[in-house]
Amino acid sequence: MKERLHQLQQEALEKIEQASDLKALNDVRIAYLGKKGPITEVLRGMGSLSPEERPIMGALANEVRQAIQTALEAKQAKLEQEEVEKKLAAETIDVTLPGRPIRRGNPHPLTRVIEEIEDLFIGMGYTIAEGPEVEKDYYNFEALNLPKGHPARDMQDSFYITEEILLRTHTSPVQARTMEKHQGRGPVKIICPGKVYRRDNDDATHSHQFTQIEGLVVDENIRMSDLKGTLREFARKMFGEDRDIRFRPSFFPFTEPSVEVDVSCFNCGGHGCNVCKGTGWIEILGAGMVHPNVLEMAGFDSKKYTGFAFGMGPERIAMLKYGIDDIRHFYQNDIRFLQQFNRV
Ligand code: PHE
Repeated sequence: MKERLHQLQQEALEKIEQASDLKALNDVRIAYLGKKGPITEVLRGMGSLSPEERPIMGALANEVRQAIQTALEAKQAKLEQEEVEKKLAAETIDVTLPGRPIRRGNPHPLTRVIEEIEDLFIGMGYTIAEGPEVEKDYYNFEALNLPKGHPARDMQDSFYITEEILLRTHTSPVQARTMEKHQGRGPVKIICPGKVYRRDNDDATHSHQFTQIEGLVVDENIRMSDLKGTLREFARKMFGEDRDIRFRPSFFPFTEPSVEVDVSCFNCGGHGCNVCKGTGWIEILGAGMVHPNVLEMAGFDSKKYTGFAFGMGPERIAMLKYGIDDIRHFYQNDIRFLQQFNRV
């Protein structure tokens, strides 16, 4: 029996030595130390021994077990260490590899144009004013000289929420609100950027929601020539130093006189091309001298104060400037469109 135990120990140690990975090692553990293993079997035969021999054999069996166990642990530690080393060798880091590029976000082209226009007017001493998009009928129409039943209200197909509340159809209500806040005292010099809403069917040049920038100056001795000088400056900064502007008579209920403003074509310099449809001029905004009724309703003395106002669509400005052919591109957020405006 003693020999058998020594022999088993010998065998097991050899197999442990030969085990080349953790799985093989575990197989050896199960084979020799498991309940169905040969050592257990040997111990089962102890019943046939004399009482003196039994403890000696028991102690020997334990020694053998212990020896195998110790060898198993040592080998396991060794194999694990080898595995870590293998991994480290295989996974060397190449510090010369180029890094993965991080995708950078960029402001939306419309945001950029609006900010550009804002900066331009801030440079001329204007401040930015804002107002609600859900607006009272009073500020959107009445305070702008469009009383209820005025035929010009037909020009503005509006989203009404109640009889008295609607989504603003233009940024002009911000003029009315700002003038009211000034309580009849000038000067007022603001631009108002923001979203506006009209019941248009969306197509290449119409959108039910778009943006406007309104400008308003009210002070003593403000003349139409001030309006013209201001807008010429704007046109040159926006479309190039060689640009000129012209006024064409028009109508807005809140300005008198009213004008449409054209800029000389930045594509052909005014000779006529497909961008300006052969005319040499491109319409960019509406403007005029603030109607005395509008000044009076907001609490300004129209004998003392005069003013000018203008309104433009940043989408239109951006479309002209960048040759964009469909207003819907601004709202669909197709990344291929937006990426063309990325900063480098
Ligand atoms: N509010 C006008 C529009 O929406 C634009 C405008 C503003 C015209 C100010 C004149 C003066 O069409």
